[in-house]
Amino acid sequence: LTASWTVEQAQKGGYDHFMLKEIYEQPRALRDTVHPRISDGLPSFEMDDVPEGFFKRFEKISIVACGTAMHAGMLGKALIEKLARIPVETDIASEFRYRNPIMDKTTLVIVISQSGETADTLAALRLAKQHGVTTLAIVNVTGSSIAREADYIIHTYAGPEIAVASTKAYSVQLSVMYMIAIKMALAKQEITTNQARELTSSLMHAIETTEKSILLDEQIKAYIKRYENLNDLFFLGRGLDYALGLEGSLKLKEISYIHCEAYAAGELKHGTISLITDGVPVVALATQEILLPKMVSNIREVRSRGADVLLICKKGMRIDRDVYGEKLELPAIDDLFMPIVGVIPLQLIAYHTAVLRGCDVDKPRNLAKSVTVE
Ligand code: G6P
Repeated sequence: LTASWTVEQAQKGGYDHFMLKEIYEQPRALRDTVHPRISDGLPSFEMDDVPEGFFKRFEKISIVACGTAMHAGMLGKALIEKLARIPVETDIASEFRYRNPIMDKTTLVIVISQSGETADTLAALRLAKQHGVTTLAIVNVTGSSIAREADYIIHTYAGPEIAVASTKAYSVQLSVMYMIAIKMALAKQEITTNQARELTSSLMHAIETTEKSILLDEQIKAYIKRYENLNDLFFLGRGLDYALGLEGSLKLKEISYIHCEAYAAGELKHGTISLITDGVPVVALATQEILLPKMVSNIREVRSRGADVLLICKKGMRIDRDVYGEKLELPAIDDLFMPIVGVIPLQLIAYHTAVLRGCDVDKPRNLAKSVTVE
């Protein structure tokens, strides 16, 4: 008798690629990261030895990371500023380390890293420590350099991420940003305990709803057949959707080698619209009720120039049929939590497009899982 499967196939657990397996693992990874940190209906970092009252001390936050982790940080900025009303800067680690950033004792530097070994992120952490600034790391790999050197660590429990393109690590990093934002808002008395409980329960609900986002897989696979011979694609969004678009665009570039850009929809008029001609694909993200009228008018602008628009919106949103080419409806949850369910279709768009184009999905050319040199 001979085994008809390889060790690698066994590790993929029946999926064609690690990336797809990791996309499907997101509900579990999110539960594993968030559930143990909920106490009395509120986020708690007791298990991470982050003392109660910790977040009260800071007047400014600096979030530093690379790649996908930086995109989680960008959403973190939006969440912390919205809920806790504390100014947050987000930096690419390779920029932060050479720009002589302004930090003092009231600054909290948060570094985010899946591997905990990214050279620039580690250097940024060391720089912050040299300035005597408090550092908090959000890391997936226990015992990694960043986990060993940061003052405080919040471990994410995504489990091993094998595919070079990060998926489940992003989602769990994002979930930690939600917990920090709620915790900080409470510490700064920007919200009441009851409001914090409601937000925490919305976070838990969003996590359960990711199961529904995954069900969009077949619809996405059928839709992206048109992307096989693409050269360019644009993501458009406003607010949280803009930050989400950046991640969607990075995923598509990384593994399908399609030139792709994410634009804040309001910036269209300042340049990008000149690139929109007949048949150019646009993925328009419109998950935020308050920004919907603005997004709809931006989508009309690209449609009138011939763009092939895939609209990704929230179930139940009223949008005229002539606005889009095709519509993908995300499960409806509170707007603030839409990125948790919204990122999954973007990962699936990138995945199926790369498969269709015959790319090496798990090991894209020129890229490494962990960039340990500058
Ligand atoms: C590399 C990987 C990306 C990752 C980035 C940051 O570029 O290919 O997927 O987002 O590094 O990695 P880190 O381990 O610090 O999160």
